[in-house]
Amino acid sequence: MRTIIGNWKMKTRLPEALALASQVAKAAERFPALEIVIAPSLPWIVPIREHLRMSPPNFALASQVVSGHTEGAYTGDVAASQLQGIVEYCLVGHSERRKYHGEQGRVVAEQMQQLLAHNITPVLCFGELEKSRNPHMVEQVLHGLSHDTEGLTVDQLSHCILAYEPVWAIGTGTPAEPEYIREVVATVKAHLKDEKGFRGQVLYGGSVTPANAHDLGRVHELDGVLVGGASLQAKDFAQICADFSGHV
Ligand code: PGA
Repeated sequence: MRTIIGNWKMKTRLPEALALASQVAKAAERFPALEIVIAPSLPWIVPIREHLRMSPPNFALASQVVSGHTEGAYTGDVAASQLQGIVEYCLVGHSERRKYHGEQGRVVAEQMQQLLAHNITPVLCFGELEKSRNPHMVEQVLHGLSHDTEGLTVDQLSHCILAYEPVWAIGTGTPAEPEYIREVVATVKAHLKDEKGFRGQVLYGGSVTPANAHDLGRVHELDGVLVGGASLQAKDFAQICADFSGHV
């Protein structure tokens, strides 16, 4: 099963969020072979859950944030225990959280531990900052990944989803080339399988749109996509789902 996640970031007002979520849930009925997930802003998650009564079964919700702490005096943070039963997934290590909130390495690993302890699937985002032909790029990316997953057991890691998001491709309108993505994802999968027995999903994110989803959908190594901007238009998001439901 492939997974398509819409990252709404800090966008949408409530009426728009409810309408968009309904449209996505309706589209999900047409793609029972996909897991379709939306990550709205935190205050919209409960209203969306109540509004939709969470059907169809292949439609799920994600949080964009979680604390690495269990509970306590952490103003503005949200604990995994508070998200439990409300979301099925949570993004961690997104480049915007790394950049604006300094969340990396141990902090990301603690967030993942919290999520796993509360039956929420972490979606760990990783990727290089700049476009380069540096032959050591994948090695560096793997090094970063090993920090982000430090302390996680083989079993815990197998309950995570990874999302390869080259930072230079996010929000720019230009995704990485399918062949490049294929290479990176295949290398990451092979490495993590050898080192940690990881056999989970690896998604791609960074300027995925209906214009490129068809080609990306043909990359067999890819288990889905993490979509930012294009996930805010129901029609575009549904088209991306269609392109990923065809060629598995
Ligand atoms: P984008 O965002 O699709 O708008 O590039 C992707 C992301 O930030 O996850």
